[in-house]
Amino acid sequence: MQRNLILLGAPGAGKGTQAQKLSALWGIPQISTGDMLREARRQGTALGQKAQAFMDAGKLVPDEVVIGLVEERLGRPDTREGVILDGFPRTIPQAEALDRLMAKLKREPVWVLAIDVPEAELQLRLGGRRSCPKDNTPYHVKFNPPRQIGKCDQCGAELFQREDDRPEAISKRFAEYQNKTAPLVAHYGTRAKRVDGTGALDAILERIQRALVG
Ligand code: AP5
Ligand code: MG
Repeated sequence: MQRNLILLGAPGAGKGTQAQKLSALWGIPQISTGDMLREARRQGTALGQKAQAFMDAGKLVPDEVVIGLVEERLGRPDTREGVILDGFPRTIPQAEALDRLMAKLKREPVWVLAIDVPEAELQLRLGGRRSCPKDNTPYHVKFNPPRQIGKCDQCGAELFQREDDRPEAISKRFAEYQNKTAPLVAHYGTRAKRVDGTGALDAILERIQRALVG
């Protein structure tokens, strides 16, 4: 059976952290639109340049840009057994576009899971996050430190702090989340399962798996 999972959650909820674990466990790719856009910026592509100002200001990139990106990615053969969507969809038009695309590609069922974390904890998480530029593993200086300070455990690359993890951009990202993304939980209705995203990383992973089978 295919496993297609949409991970919803505020900035810092742990979508990337849990998506990487699920991807390793299930052997299917994580598709993070945030990581894809950051990679496009590093490569200096036209799409990356277009996304840059939106991202650094903590605003969502226009729907047509990310929908095109996801459509292209889902057309690749490694997605046939399923995908973990991390950070997409983020708006109702994106959710509608995804429904059409998955039906066209016969990639169903699609599970939806929302990770809940209180805002005070999200602030602490984003403030101390460090990310790997090569494999996108998220770390935290205190809550999830790498074995060697400033270096990725998997590939040894120098960790960096995201441009949008500055306080002004963080507030804007929360506002965008409340206005445009939080309504997706209601949009998906009973299809959306919710899990408590606080506590140890592996305990959350177990909660996610239980929520999906239950
Ligand atoms: P994106 O990269 O998706 O950022 P985001 O949604 O703001 O989410 P984050 O990546 O910040 O958080 P996360 O939930 O992945 O948490 P993580 O696992 O890293 O998007 C960035 C930008 O790109 C957007 O603002 C927008 O401009 C654009 N964009 C992307 N997708 C788009 C779309 N579909 N439409 C339009 N625009 C789009 O964890 C966070 C920290 O917490 C880490 O330090 C981690 O180590 C730590 N942590 C994780 N779990 C725990 C735990 N249980 N306890 C303690 N610490 C923890
Ligand atoms: Mg992320």
